[in-house]
Amino acid sequence: MAAAPQSPRLTEQVSEDPLLVVEDLRTHFKVEAGMVKAVDGVSFTLDRGKTLGIVGESGSGKTVLARSIMRLNVSPNAITTGSVRYNGEELVGKSAKQMQKLWGVEMAMVFQDPMTSLNPLVKVGRQLTEHLRYHLGVSKKEARLNAIELLKSVRIPEPENRFGVYPHEMSGGMRQRVCIASALACGPKMLFADEPTTALDVTVQHQILNLLQKQQEDRFMTMILVTHDLGVVAGRTDDIAVMYAGRMVEKAPTKHLFADMRHPYTEALFRSIPKTSNPKHTRLSAIAGRPPDLINPPPGCKFSPRCPYVQDRCRSEEPQPQPAAAPGHSFSCHFPVGTPESRAAFDANFEAGLPQTLAAAGEIVATEELVETSGAVN
Ligand SMILES: Nc1ncnc2c1ncn2[C@@H]1O[C@H](COP(=O)(O)OP(=O)(O)OP(=O)(O)O)[C@@H](O)[C@H]1O
Ligand code: SF4
Ligand SMILES: [Mg+2]
Repeated sequence: MAAAPQSPRLTEQVSEDPLLVVEDLRTHFKVEAGMVKAVDGVSFTLDRGKTLGIVGESGSGKTVLARSIMRLNVSPNAITTGSVRYNGEELVGKSAKQMQKLWGVEMAMVFQDPMTSLNPLVKVGRQLTEHLRYHLGVSKKEARLNAIELLKSVRIPEPENRFGVYPHEMSGGMRQRVCIASALACGPKMLFADEPTTALDVTVQHQILNLLQKQQEDRFMTMILVTHDLGVVAGRTDDIAVMYAGRMVEKAPTKHLFADMRHPYTEALFRSIPKTSNPKHTRLSAIAGRPPDLINPPPGCKFSPRCPYVQDRCRSEEPQPQPAAAPGHSFSCHFPVGTPESRAAFDANFEAGLPQTLAAAGEIVATEELVETSGAVN
């Protein structure tokens, strides 16, 4: 049997350089009405073996960002600029053919809908063995043994029997486990999980998230977990990046973000997390208003039409990233949460009857409850 992919801790010297360095990454789509600025100047680094949560509402650019980094299915109307250095190698500008040697082996993706990556006409086992044979060049027999091991590692019961079934004969949770097995098959160093659980019920969601977390730890993988739910990433990530309208508006080590969030949009996401311990407050407050038009975004801060702290300056001057007190914490806002200036701004807006101040006036969920809600194992 071919050796199962090992943790780099056991097999190689781990470099101290970040695995991923993203600088001023932009992906704009050319459409009839203009340019959709889906990802608009994103920069971050990600260290080896760490997990980054990327959070934001629908349409904030999470999937386009993940796909732009991996150079997966970047559509013909897309223009990507900036830099993505993976293990020191520049990826922006690489063709699909050049990326083939990195996909699966270096970086892999688990999608929201398992049927995106599974072929409904091919039995589960064959989908895994073909992948293994193509990338690792193992024999048919070795591929079968490896595939069964993989199915076991993602806790599929009776893997020998499941080997011969079609995807539609499995439950949604089991199909997602197969997708995770397929993504892990060639031992990638970096795994993207793009909303891997939104199509599943809550109990199965927790099982799949726990499974991803365990695999990440066991394999010392670097992971990017994409979600619209801040609760999902609360207890499962080292860092969290909050995206709004194609930008990262706040990024921080997870514990600092919950202890000292500075961006009003992060605060709004935090308030919209369901609080399971108090049934009267299952949804504390929805975020007022709608995400902006990415072709003609509002001038100044893109969150200004929805922000309870908005002032005139916000409507004319786009805030730039600035460091917060804790190392690794940065945010882009003129009136950050928790300052006397933002309190005065909120009070003035409340007096003036700005609708978004009413949505923001709810009670804040305690961080411990949030971690409990996320069902995290650590
Ligand atoms: N090929 C395309 N052409 C034009 N616009 C596009 C294209 N692909 C994505 N977009 C737009 O880019 C923006 C960001 O989309 P993206 O799919 O990244 O959002 P998301 O944050 O992943 O949302 P969700 O939570 O719903 O998955 C959206 O406004 C979307 O309509
Ligand atoms: S306070 Fe101003 S700069 Fe900060 S998020 Fe609100 S609108 Fe944007
Ligand atoms: Mg998406």
